[in-house]
This record gives sequence, C-alpha cells and structure tokens, in this order.
Amino acid sequence: MMTDNSSPHDSGNLYIASILGILLMVVAAAVVWVAQVRPSVAVEAAPVEQPASAPAQPESAPAQTSTGDPAAGQAKFAQTCSACHGPTGEGIPNLGKNLVTSEFVAGQTDEQLLAFIKVGRPTSDPLNTTGIDMPPKGGNPALNDTDLENIVAYMRSIHK
Ligand code: HEC
Repeated sequence: MMTDNSSPHDSGNLYIASILGILLMVVAAAVVWVAQVRPSVAVEAAPVEQPASAPAQPESAPAQTSTGDPAAGQAKFAQTCSACHGPTGEGIPNLGKNLVTSEFVAGQTDEQLLAFIKVGRPTSDPLNTTGIDMPPKGGNPALNDTDLENIVAYMRSIHK
C-alpha cells in the first residue's frame, strides 16, 4: 500500500522538480541573454551621439594650418593691432574685439583671415557687430602679405 501510494507521489515530485529545473534554466538563460544584449545596446547608442558633436570639429580645424612666424607677427601686432585689440589681443572696450576668444577667428581659414584683415569691417558692413570700424590692415597700409601671414600665425598662437 505504502509503495503504491509513494510511487505516484514521488514521480509527481520528480515532475514538478524537472519543471522547476527547466524554468530555472530558462530564467538563467534570459539573465545571460540580457547581460549580453545590454552592452551591445550601449555600444550601438554611443555612435549616435558622435555625429551631433562632429560638426564642431571643422570650425576649429583651420587653426592648425598657419604657415607664418608668430614671433614676427607679435611684433607687427604690437605696432598696429594692439592699439585697439590690446597688447595680448584680449580686446579693449569700445576700440577692438577680443581676438583670443573670437569664434569668428576660430571659424576662418588663414586665407580668409588674411583677406579679412586687408579689408577690415567698417560700420557700414552689415556683419559689423560693435558699431566701431575695423580699418583695412588695422589702418597700417605698410603691412605686406608676409606681415599679415605672421600676424595670423600670432593670432592662432594666442587663440583659446
Ligand atoms: C582702430 C582700431 C582697430 C585696429 C587698429 C585694428 N582693429 Fe581689428 N577690429 C576693430 C574693431 C572695432 C573690430 C570689430 C568690428 C565689428 O564690430 O564687427 C575688429 C575686428 C577684428 C577682427 C574680427 C573679430 C571678430 O570676432 O569678429 C579681427 C580678426 C581683427 N579685428 C584683427 C585685427 C588685426 C590683425 C589688426 C592689426 C593688423 C587689427 N584688427 C587692428 C578695431 C581695430
């Protein structure tokens, strides 16, 4: 009697035990799967952020192309440009803008900056931001292209 009763009881336990065993394996497999998938989601998400910050790089890229001599440029800058932009290029209120932090300078190629200095930015220019004249060549027509290239190299060296 006892053996007849215990036999189906034991096989019932075995059945439940094997179901639980399979469930445990499924849960374990799911945990392992999630652990593997999570990092790959993070890896996939990272490149999405990069294109957003990428366009900022070309703006600062021209800063590395200077060919002039910054030391010679500093001497010319001190003679002409410092009168309005200050001895260190940090600007003088109501005279000349800060060239150290200038986004305009950072966004221009050397060629563009050289061309800009030649013509300046009069108050009649819609791009003028202060209502004060930036005279052609800073008002010093004696500055030649080499001088201006050196001045551009100097401006690159002080720019932050
Ligand atoms: C008589 C004063 C004066 C002198 C001298 C002068 N500048 Fe300027 N400069 C200005 C003013 C004012 C501005 C701002 C014009 C504006 O309102 O957009 C300016 C703007 C600039 C800018 C553009 C800055 C920006 O963020 O937009 C550069 C670059 C620049 N000057 C370079 C020079 C260089 C190089 C020299 C010397 C060769 C020089 N300047 C001499 C008055 C001067």
